[in-house]
Amino acid sequence: MKALQCVELGGPDKLQINEVSDPEITAEHVIIDVKSASVNFPDVLMIQGLYQFQPPLPFTPGGESAGVVSEVGEGVTDYKVGDKVFAATGVGGISEKILAHQSMLRAIPKEMDYEIAAALSVTYGTSIYALKQRANIQPGETLLVLGASGGVGLATVQLGKAMGAKIIAAASTQEKVDVCIANGADEGFVYPSGNLDRDQQKELSNKVKELTGGMGPNVIYDPVGGSYAEPCLRSIAWEGRYLVIGFAAGADQIPKMPLNLTLLKGCQIVGVFWGAWAGMFPAENQKNFEELFTMYADGKINPEASDKFTLDTAADAIAHLADRKAKGKVVINF
Ligand SMILES: NC(=O)c1ccc[n+]([C@@H]2O[C@H](COP(=O)([O-])OP(=O)(O)OC[C@H]3O[C@@H](n4cnc5c(N)ncnc54)[C@H](OP(=O)(O)O)[C@@H]3O)[C@@H](O)[C@H]2O)c1
Repeated sequence: MKALQCVELGGPDKLQINEVSDPEITAEHVIIDVKSASVNFPDVLMIQGLYQFQPPLPFTPGGESAGVVSEVGEGVTDYKVGDKVFAATGVGGISEKILAHQSMLRAIPKEMDYEIAAALSVTYGTSIYALKQRANIQPGETLLVLGASGGVGLATVQLGKAMGAKIIAAASTQEKVDVCIANGADEGFVYPSGNLDRDQQKELSNKVKELTGGMGPNVIYDPVGGSYAEPCLRSIAWEGRYLVIGFAAGADQIPKMPLNLTLLKGCQIVGVFWGAWAGMFPAENQKNFEELFTMYADGKINPEASDKFTLDTAADAIAHLADRKAKGKVVINF
């Protein structure tokens, strides 16, 4: 079978499409013939050796995929050959076949295609957990989303809207802001890309306050970090919740917040680590997914891929995300 492989750490240009051995079935696992896989920011970090979980070389990137079960191991009770499933495996997804433990699988609902199923787990799984369990967001509250046209960003725009929040989308180009407005954001604005100087940080803080009538957003969703974080926290509402999602601006620029701001604003800085929580509380995570399926069936969320690639161009798909070009979800169709 063919698979994308990381044989040495580095940028997407180092990735190779190689002929590799088919996986062998083991107990409690299934083999999936992959139809679609999707790309997330951790893939960009993992191929460079910068992610918190690092598989040994060589490895196949790709944290999530969807396809058909082609083999079933001993002890698998809920899935059979021919079932359409999607899986969040963390790694190995950009491959014609993948071995996945049954606990990582979900059946694809009837009305959903492979492409959508492959794009659902990580972004929507993270964002529903962040907004519901971590922020306890309420209808009528204002939600500021940074990097709002990215994978988790756009999922949050749609989910926040579905939960009754007023959405302010922030992104680095007007084209990206327009994508967010088309996906339900009530307002949006462009922030400078790159490291913000003092004046730009003050401007960012003022812009957020201005758009919220001086009150500040109740919830801030931050997958970017860097120099955007502190000015946004300075603009947050009384008893606001600042959701720490990730550090797309760079692991070398992890923000250090002045704690007096939490006192002055009566606010919380809330860590969000969906993968760890999902492992600890699978039943609650499953309930979130059932809600996502209902929202999808009711047309309240639309996890449609915006940028599509093939297995032969899969390295370009990862480069597309790394180069900050993605608007929504990047999917690879087999
Ligand atoms: N906590 C969790 O459980 C969890 C789960 C999933 C993902 N994450 C994290 O969330 C972050 C976003 O993931 P994603 O898959 O949504 O990525 P993505 O699609 O690439 O979106 C990231 C966004 O960050 C912005 N950005 C700012 N500086 C950037 C830079 N130097 N390089 C690239 N993008 C930059 C970009 O928007 P602008 O150009 O508009 O600024 C981009 O759209 C990552 O750090 C990821 O590890 C966390």
